[in-house]
Amino acid sequence: TAGKILPVTNEELARHNNVNDAWLAIRGKVFNVTRYMEFHPGGVNELLRGTGKDATKLFDEVHAWVNYPQLLEKCYVGPLKNDCHKMP
Ligand code: HEM
Repeated sequence: TAGKILPVTNEELARHNNVNDAWLAIRGKVFNVTRYMEFHPGGVNELLRGTGKDATKLFDEVHAWVNYPQLLEKCYVGPLKNDCHKMP
């Protein structure tokens, strides 16, 4: 399914919560961070705190300035379903 955009449920997102299979959501977008893991300047264990879930709050608390859309451009999986962050 390379290159295919897939809407992701919270249930599906929660399955990808380990070092070998790591997804996270930021502002309604789900990214596969498995391959980014070893390049994360904050280390593997820090990044794992945000995997398998909506990591928006955690991400912003640590480094809201980081340009994740650019860094994770090729890691985009799809939009998170039932996303609260899109609400006005
Ligand atoms: C740095 C935690 C997600 C990119 C850091 C640092 C921590 C951290 C503690 C500081 C490391 C240090 O200065 O020694 C986390 C946590 C995450 C997370 C808990 C869970 C959501 C991400 C994601 C990306 C990312 C998704 C990129 C797409 C970076 C970058 C730095 C960094 C670029 C260096 C920032 C700088 O020095 O200005 N992270 N991170 N992080 N992280 Fe994360």
